[in-house]
Amino acid sequence: MEERFMNASYQLEDGAVEQSLRPHTLREYIGQTAVKDSLSIYIQAALSRHDALDHMLLYGPPGLGKTTLANIVAAEMGSNIRITSGPAIERPGDLLSIITNLNQGDVLFIDEIHRLSRTSEEVLYSAMEDFAVDIVTGKGPMANSIHMAVPKFTLVGATTRAGQLSAPLRDRFGMLFRLEMYSPEELSQIVRRSATILGIDATPEGILEIARRSRGTPRIANRMLKRVRDYAQVRGGGVIDIEVAREAIAMQGVDALGLDKTDRTMLSTMMDKFGGGPVGLDTLAATTGEDAITIEDVYEPYLMQLGFLMRTPRGRVCTPAAWAHMGKTAPGAGENGQIRMEL
Ligand code: ADE
Repeated sequence: MEERFMNASYQLEDGAVEQSLRPHTLREYIGQTAVKDSLSIYIQAALSRHDALDHMLLYGPPGLGKTTLANIVAAEMGSNIRITSGPAIERPGDLLSIITNLNQGDVLFIDEIHRLSRTSEEVLYSAMEDFAVDIVTGKGPMANSIHMAVPKFTLVGATTRAGQLSAPLRDRFGMLFRLEMYSPEELSQIVRRSATILGIDATPEGILEIARRSRGTPRIANRMLKRVRDYAQVRGGGVIDIEVAREAIAMQGVDALGLDKTDRTMLSTMMDKFGGGPVGLDTLAATTGEDAITIEDVYEPYLMQLGFLMRTPRGRVCTPAAWAHMGKTAPGAGENGQIRMEL
């Protein structure tokens, strides 16, 4: 599949730069104020009790800083972190070996935890609740089960789809935190910080322009900053100002609100072929060539944040704001462009 510039999913080129830009303390972490405030209290409380932190689930769209937060939690607790992901754990044995090698107070971070197999999930139940695992040795009549205590650790699970987690797993998390998309002001602070770390010269207006077009997502903002820097070097005398930012971002096919070609294809298909909806998710997937899960996890959250799309029981519906942004007139719109919404 073609890697997409505006896709918030982690891509290989993000690696080294994400590492260098990642904040290391809660104080440095910009935005997600409610999550930070709660975390800071729970961390202080656990530290003063000399206890491990309770297990926590971080959920929300990709690119908002779930891995970063997990690393910060470990750092603030003075603990080591072990990072893995649902798809990387092929057999329950893989997970058993990770868990039995943890030390007291360690953070175990499992990204995409909704993709763990059911049998691996079952290993987690007793590990999370009783800090014990059952190890089966031998086969057939010789099989034996050993109940083994494991050190008290903190599981940090991350997922884009909290709804897909099984209830028994979800119930074992003491804390659930939903990460929200960032405001343009918060993203500006993040881009400003990244520009300083990378030694990039940018005006406040240039930075705000990058922030506005980054779909509320730090990963996209940081990726965009690098591309705009390249453009500034070649065409703009090395400084990112508002014109350079606009030209560089437009060159990537991204519009003033951060919508790219796929977003606009999705909206215009809904408008031109289905009168703005309701349109079913599978129909949207077929018309855009994206899979339904990517549409739900990556495209729709931002379109809904902008107030361009609504999920209704009968399907997705474009809002008047979406029609206006696309420069199209809704069928049945009155003189003043008002649309009668039938849901
Ligand atoms: N880089 C990525 N996400 C960040 C955040 N929330 N705060 C600071 N820097 C970041």
